[in-house]
Amino acid sequence: MSKLKKTFTTQAKFMLHGGDYNPDQWLDRPDILMDDIELMQLSKTNTFSLGIFAWSTLEPEEGVYHFEWLDEAIDNIYRIGGRVILATPSGARPAWMSQKYPEVLRVNASRVKQLPGGRHNHCFTSEIYREKTQKMNRLLAERYGDHPALLMWHISNEYGGGCHCENCQGAFRNWLKEKYHHDIKLLNDAWWSPFWSHIFNDWSQIESPSPIGENAVHGLNLDWRRFVTDQTISFFENEIVPLKELTPDIPITTNFMADTHDLIPFQGLDYSKFAKHLDVISWDAYPAWHNDWESTADLAVKVGFINDLYRSLKQQPFLLMESTPSAVNWHRVNKAKRPGMHLLSSMQMIAHGSDSILYFQWRKSRGSSEKFHGAVVDHDNSADNRVFQEVTKVGETLQQLSHVVGTNRSADVAILYDWDNHWALEDAQGFGLETKRYPQTLHQHYRPFWEQDIPVDVITKEQDFSPYKLLIVPMLYLVSEQTISRLKTFVAGGGTLVMTYISGIVNEYDLTYMGGWPQDLQGIFGMKPVETDTLYPADRNYVNYQNKLYGLQDYATVIENQSAQTEGLYQEDFYAHTPAVTSHRYKQGKTYYIGARLHDNFHKDFYQTLISELSLAPVFAVQHEEGVSVQVRQSEEKDFIFIMNFTEVEQQITLETTVKDTATEKELAGEITLAKYEVKIVEKEKAH
Ligand code: GLA
Ligand code: GLA
Repeated sequence: MSKLKKTFTTQAKFMLHGGDYNPDQWLDRPDILMDDIELMQLSKTNTFSLGIFAWSTLEPEEGVYHFEWLDEAIDNIYRIGGRVILATPSGARPAWMSQKYPEVLRVNASRVKQLPGGRHNHCFTSEIYREKTQKMNRLLAERYGDHPALLMWHISNEYGGGCHCENCQGAFRNWLKEKYHHDIKLLNDAWWSPFWSHIFNDWSQIESPSPIGENAVHGLNLDWRRFVTDQTISFFENEIVPLKELTPDIPITTNFMADTHDLIPFQGLDYSKFAKHLDVISWDAYPAWHNDWESTADLAVKVGFINDLYRSLKQQPFLLMESTPSAVNWHRVNKAKRPGMHLLSSMQMIAHGSDSILYFQWRKSRGSSEKFHGAVVDHDNSADNRVFQEVTKVGETLQQLSHVVGTNRSADVAILYDWDNHWALEDAQGFGLETKRYPQTLHQHYRPFWEQDIPVDVITKEQDFSPYKLLIVPMLYLVSEQTISRLKTFVAGGGTLVMTYISGIVNEYDLTYMGGWPQDLQGIFGMKPVETDTLYPADRNYVNYQNKLYGLQDYATVIENQSAQTEGLYQEDFYAHTPAVTSHRYKQGKTYYIGARLHDNFHKDFYQTLISELSLAPVFAVQHEEGVSVQVRQSEEKDFIFIMNFTEVEQQITLETTVKDTATEKELAGEITLAKYEVKIVEKEKAH
């Protein structure tokens, strides 16, 4: 129940609507800056992220500062009732800094020192860059810390990437010394160094992975990625020192990312670690709506999944820090959002836990690289175009949703995603080099719940498993003994655990478990996987599960049964008529092992059985066809229900109880028609 308490992640009790606002690009156009104030009001936007890339305007020469323009922008926004998310400008450096202090420039993995230019390209170890950012951040906190418009801190921008300079090599070696207790033998053991004669006898011999050097020691690759996360967090921690000191009550965030294709979690950093250092999670979402490789509903499943992951990182509402009201400028094809899609896609974010709809950027730039990236205000500088109107509609809708702010979602089902595992699995030479598809596999397991409107938390390994009835851990290739023991406790205490092929293979050092599958896993599953067969695309095999045949692809695990119950049998090949799917009771709980990558129809039927067995249910029941999604934000008093049509046709739905339409405040019940892309937001008092 504690999850249902309202958690205000910002001091605002309203939905944030607005985005990156860059007046520093328009300082010689006071007419435009005046238009902005009017257009902010017309577009029903209320929150603006300032100064993200403004360092060269804030400090045009070393030690020479210009804050007046920012004073004015913040005051003007406040005057119209707006709020500000103030950025620290470390995402891009002024030219004078790179010129005077070349150590701030990054060295890439091929050991090429980068030239000044672009952005997000500084060394996270550089003492000078750390000093400069901290100084700038202190000035910002001193000047604006008490400003009533200040809502939160936006630290840097989309942290990512690593630097391979000598300073970073030194920091990496120190990090390794700490980790391996200053004993190089421990490092050699962990990295299996005798392989290809890679035994190190001095820390100074160790270099970060490189295309022109070492890249095949998987333990090294994994440690490097972990180091990059820790070093980035350490840079971030250095940035926030003055902010914590001077503005302890102002929440801190940094904007996370996801890959555009398939919206897979950003791979450059382990966000589960980073999340612990943030007050609020925020992220930048750019799904390619209306693409030509999947249906709108297929994409909506992936958006739901990544939102449920980023929300679950802190089990509290998050912020959508950036999005586009129309096209982006960096997809292969930059398609405009069709009429209605902006409201629908925005409400999906809110439904899954966002307390904001913010854009990059609020006004389109006139020149340079992102001048065609969709914005609230286009080059026509007018409120009359379609996109502006759709943004305004989102603004009006958000105004009706202030009661939703701070509300969360509760779930009985969790799916586990793990960055370490993703890295190690992708790096593993073996299985199918192009068919690992870890996040896509998670989508497969998430989908049946999305289709039935059953809420899911996508959690990471350090989180508490005990609140869930069902925990699904597909392709958990890398798993420590500690996590195995927590999984065991979860099942022993009455939980239901689902695991799949390619799980439980290596420990946290990327060393395989010796003597077969870990004993603890054998104990809870009552079986052991003994071989993983990898299939060519043309190979065919089937599993008979509950007297129905299901196709499989890519992977089939040969299972040695001990005390499990066989739920499904392979039909072909040398393992025909042996178990493919098993279940096992262990103490108070139950486990299922799915040995093959089965097609979606299997997951649908398999999870349907579990849904019935475990009495899993939607928070609010709506009868509908495929492609409609119902997601609920909950407070102790009320449920806020978002009914979304992710199809291109009209949909008939049936509400099983009477609710109130949030927009019209009218009662709604029974059969309702949803137009193409329509979203209905309704609410229902909780029965007490
Ligand atoms: C080659 C090499 C071996 C090993 C095998 C298998 O034959 O000589 O050391 O790498 O390939 O990959
Ligand atoms: C990212 C960045 C923004 C902008 C947008 C749109 O999310 O943070 O500065 O570049 O992409 O391309």
